[in-house]
Amino acid sequence: MTFLITAGPTREAIDPVRYISNRSSGKMGYAIAEAALDAGHDVILISGPVNLAPPRNSKFISVSTSDEMFDAVHQHADSADICVLCAAVADYKPAQVSPTKIKKRADGISLELTPTRDILQSLGQRQSRKFLLVGFAAETDHLEANAREKLHKKNCDIIVGNDARAAMETDENELLILFRDGEMKRISRAPKNILAYELVKIFLNSQQKCLTKKM
Ligand code: CTP
Repeated sequence: MTFLITAGPTREAIDPVRYISNRSSGKMGYAIAEAALDAGHDVILISGPVNLAPPRNSKFISVSTSDEMFDAVHQHADSADICVLCAAVADYKPAQVSPTKIKKRADGISLELTPTRDILQSLGQRQSRKFLLVGFAAETDHLEANAREKLHKKNCDIIVGNDARAAMETDENELLILFRDGEMKRISRAPKNILAYELVKIFLNSQQKCLTKKM
């Protein structure tokens, strides 16, 4: 099987020296990549800027902006059996990128932001896709309701929900996994690398079920 995995944050440029980003460490996505490789699968890892070494034996694609991540994902999605979109993609980018450094002024400045493209949703909208589509939902409140809404809105097969505050920049996580058929699983707090092994098994199992249904 081939896994396509996105991980880490994106950076949206304001000017040549500044950007908008978030606190994602990339650890969950990299742990899933390692677990899939350990289980003998191929991995295409599309990563935003993080402080982690690329897993050995993965096809590693380094990106910075949401637009670069969007293009890399669409270029490689059809060679994957399972797409796991774990990245914390910025929801907005500056409407204009200043070509020169914005100078400090005595009064304040406002930044006009424009929405980025939703990569997960764009894969969910693909007609007759053959890969299993897995998204993540990082929430600070109403985890189950918000994750379920994302599952339907983005037309995924699985959404892995987690507490945004508890998950960012830490080595541990706890997960709520929602499936398209309404099934739900909880995995209690554990190191991200242990969770990753569980997730890979769950994704493979779901992929097999999808294949059996289609045959
Ligand atoms: N995602 C994406 N492209 C975006 C934004 C999000 O592919 N431009 C994906 C993430 O990789 C994740 C899922 O969508 O798999 C949910 O991301 P999340 O940040 O939890 O939700 P948003 O859709 O951004 O909604 P909100 O920030 O309002 O919770």
